[in-house]
Amino acid sequence: MSKKIEQILLQDQFSKDDIIRLLQSKDDEEKALFVKSSEIKLENIGKNVHFRGLVEFSNICKKDCLYCGIRAGNPKVDRYDIADDQILKAAKFAHEHNYGSMVLQGGERSDSAFVDRITNLLKEIKKLSNNELGITISIGEQSEETYKKWFDAGAHRYLLRVESSNPKLYSKIHPDNDEHSHQTRLKCLKSLQDIGYQTGTGVMIGLPFQTYEDLANDILFMKEFDIDMVGMGPFIEHDQTPLYEHKDGLMNLNDRFRLTLRMIAVLRIIMKDINIASATALQAIDPLGREKALKIGANIIMPNITPTQERANYLLYQNKPCIDEGADDCTNCMEARINMADGEIGYGQWGDSKHFKNRQ
Ligand code: 5AD
Ligand code: FES
Repeated sequence: MSKKIEQILLQDQFSKDDIIRLLQSKDDEEKALFVKSSEIKLENIGKNVHFRGLVEFSNICKKDCLYCGIRAGNPKVDRYDIADDQILKAAKFAHEHNYGSMVLQGGERSDSAFVDRITNLLKEIKKLSNNELGITISIGEQSEETYKKWFDAGAHRYLLRVESSNPKLYSKIHPDNDEHSHQTRLKCLKSLQDIGYQTGTGVMIGLPFQTYEDLANDILFMKEFDIDMVGMGPFIEHDQTPLYEHKDGLMNLNDRFRLTLRMIAVLRIIMKDINIASATALQAIDPLGREKALKIGANIIMPNITPTQERANYLLYQNKPCIDEGADDCTNCMEARINMADGEIGYGQWGDSKHFKNRQ
């Protein structure tokens, strides 16, 4: 007979089988898992929820990931690239509203004009905020030299999702060419860590072909890699992408949502001091999705501060929330929601990953 959930939750080491068992928990067992993960969060992280003002500055991307709505091969996307002064305005907004940190996220590009542009933007943001605003970037795979340039210009956290730690599954959700290699992804993560970034990764949950064992391995991978921050969310099929043809075999959206919550809870139990973001994709399934994730283990939220007119074009997946609200609306609704989830906003703080500090 398999172990009781209560018994597993008393352990401080977890085998792959234990993790699979936790990920498959339902009803009262799932409740027990969530009680434990919220306790661990409160003990190790406290109630503070940190803001990262998210600017999705461009949907121009050279990659062709089979799941992503803004892949280069999707001719139906209206491509945009927000002007630098607009990006700086959003950064100023984040600074003035005491967000503590911002995230610059965009499709992957790496021509030298682009690299230099980002370098300058980082310097400008540091300047306009008197070095007060923390900056996370998320612009995909780059050379070690580029990562270093951006680090020297002021970025100190980087998000690069591994998408799946299983190379076979990775190859099923990406085109079969050198531009989309799992090994390169791992090499990039290693460079980021070596350079000194607080390094973030994550996976999609509920992908076609994905098993519980894959997800358990994803959690073990994050632990093994000694990752500082994680953002993971449910996979949401997009009808303008090749992966859409597998939609009939997918878990239903609500089950993907619950499984994501369990992934967050298990990760919090196993990696007590990392930063875990409550992914926007959760809100696409449940209007209170992000708050539910904060309650059971996440501690970071990324309010969208992208200038409103472009939001509707950054659709990595469909039914994306908040695409027609101004940044101000988002701040207000966010405060109320976080209070509801029994959290407190850590205004004006960088909210660095404690794990990063502990491993220095
Ligand atoms: N569903 C959910 N998440 C997606 N992403 C891209 N496409 C989708 C999708 N269809 C996620 C990827 C990527 C991040 C920026 O968005 O994990 O790393
Ligand atoms: Fe842009 Fe995957 S489609 S990085």
